[in-house]
Amino acid sequence: MKTEKSQTFVNPRILGGNATRTCSIAGVGSYVPDRVLSNIELEKIVDTSDTWITTRTGIKERRMAGPEQYTSDLAAEAARRAMAHAGITPDQIDLIIVATITPDTPFPSTACWLQHKIGAHRAAAFDVEAACSGFLYGLEIGQQFVMTQTYNTVLVIGAEKLSSIIDWKDRNTCVLFGDGAGAVILRNRPQSHGLLTVCMGADGSKTGLLGMPGGGSRCPASHESVDERLHFLRMDGKETFKHAVTAMCNAAREALHRCHIEIGQVACIIPHQANRRIIDAVTERLHARADQVFVNLEKYGNTSAASVAIALDEAVRAGRIHRGDLVLMVAFGAGFTWASAVIEW
Ligand code: ACO
Repeated sequence: MKTEKSQTFVNPRILGGNATRTCSIAGVGSYVPDRVLSNIELEKIVDTSDTWITTRTGIKERRMAGPEQYTSDLAAEAARRAMAHAGITPDQIDLIIVATITPDTPFPSTACWLQHKIGAHRAAAFDVEAACSGFLYGLEIGQQFVMTQTYNTVLVIGAEKLSSIIDWKDRNTCVLFGDGAGAVILRNRPQSHGLLTVCMGADGSKTGLLGMPGGGSRCPASHESVDERLHFLRMDGKETFKHAVTAMCNAAREALHRCHIEIGQVACIIPHQANRRIIDAVTERLHARADQVFVNLEKYGNTSAASVAIALDEAVRAGRIHRGDLVLMVAFGAGFTWASAVIEW
């Protein structure tokens, strides 16, 4: 799988240029529902065990949204926290980008549901779908609008209610996922470096390995599609695992290469939180130290587009990231898609 791209973006300030406009993360916030679903509880739902889940994935528990708590509700709470952190009000937001594979409705977008909920009435709003890479895809799109001076303030959110597409009869997948949301506010901040680069990639030949077969134009909802359980997430875990490690390593290396930095200079690495064994394999192959890597998947499982955003917020609040630190984020998901980003905090 190739992740090298001929086109590269490098913030000119890194190369000693005089860029006056940079795109920074001015605020970050996250939200997970209160309801905790432990591995022990899952033992009562499917043929699994705490030992299997812990040793094969590292996950101990995950959060579940309530029946009347939708993706936009999780996103709204994360957005409010990010706005408070940035010290801005909803009317200052120019654009809302929501990355999700579990939208409130196929249309209108979750971003529009959210816009009304948080009262960001001036903002344009749309969704991005790149599965677990979606938040970093959103970051790149948002950054482009800030850097071109189209917008000053962009809200980027990764939010998922994955419990709404989990097949609770499939032990291969139902133990892996959880609900939650993470948000950042992007703004021009001339005194800092901000986002140095975002790399994105995709391999559409692997669409069959991970996805939800029903509900789109290929397979509209019908009695048959419901009976065949086609409206649930399906994954070939083993194949996905192999591709995830390779693509995440390549994407991380590409981002570091673009910025002319070595892995040892990175203060905090935030990988997509899908499986502890994937994170360990990526850490080893990148020759990173374990103490550079932020991991919280034992508490939340895989929250897809929300995972990197929630981890970034928790790393900031835990004092793992300080002003001037280099932060590397890397993700992989259905599509397949992958993405990486380097920030000078
Ligand atoms: N409890 C007990 N046994 C189980 C469970 C379970 N929950 N799930 C599977 N098993 C069994 C399988 O049936 C299999 O049994 P068998 O050998 O008798 O057939 C055995 O355990 C081993 O299964 P494997 O598939 O070999 O397990 P593996 O070590 O590959 O782990 C896992 C599975 C955790 C899914 C792993 O492959 C993985 O993490 N894959 C990548 C996930 C990922 O990164 N997804 C990308 C993002 S997700 C997105 O985009 C939405």
